[in-house]
Amino acid sequence: MGIHSILNLPVSYTDLDQTLNSADLILSDAVANATTLFHTPVVSSINGKEVVSRVMVLREFNLANKIMRFHTDYRAAKIKHFTKNNNVSVIGYDPNLKIQIKLQGRIRVHYDDEVAESAWKESNGRSKKCYSVKGGSTKKILEPSEYDIQDFEVEDGYKNFSVLIFNFHSLEFLHLKSSGHRRAIHKWEDDLKSTWLVP
Ligand SMILES: Cc1cc2nc3c(=O)[nH]c(=O)nc-3n(C[C@H](O)[C@H](O)[C@H](O)COP(=O)(O)O)c2cc1C
Repeated sequence: MGIHSILNLPVSYTDLDQTLNSADLILSDAVANATTLFHTPVVSSINGKEVVSRVMVLREFNLANKIMRFHTDYRAAKIKHFTKNNNVSVIGYDPNLKIQIKLQGRIRVHYDDEVAESAWKESNGRSKKCYSVKGGSTKKILEPSEYDIQDFEVEDGYKNFSVLIFNFHSLEFLHLKSSGHRRAIHKWEDDLKSTWLVP
């Protein structure tokens, strides 16, 4: 059975509520479901005049609070980008669903605070291991194999661990279908405003 029927998504979209509801189902499912490409969306930041993109694992999605959670190494280049300019775009597309979801918002970095502590406690050993890599993400190196993680104490990684909370203010939904594509945008200003767009 495909993800489309497991999530009980509409075959076609006739009202705006359906598009937000499907986005909620897809992104909520994607947190634990590594078989959908929405599990690993692309997160883009701004570095001066350049846009920088990277794939990240989606750790949490909450539509009521309008947040996504990501985990990263505190030494990574993107931390510096988010600190200087926290405008972020997150995008994903799953060819099985033929759905693209794009969100705009702001990211807040959490390091050694309650948010980071609780996310670290929830993480499994395999995820925690990444944060024990020496030198830190993005450092230029001559020999990658020297940086394979071998002897490590898993809890030592906490000092390099950080949580990114992405607070989105718009969500765009695009469903590709040969009989007619459907594109909708939902924007949270004082309240939620939703409209169709030409696909
Ligand atoms: C499938 C996949 C999942 C990834 N998940 C994460 C992640 O959850 N967090 C993260 O920081 N980097 C993740 N990465 C690595 C990033 O794409 C990126 O290479 C790294 O974080 C350095 O990015 P930066 O230099 O922009 O900080 C993932 C890469 C792939 C291919």
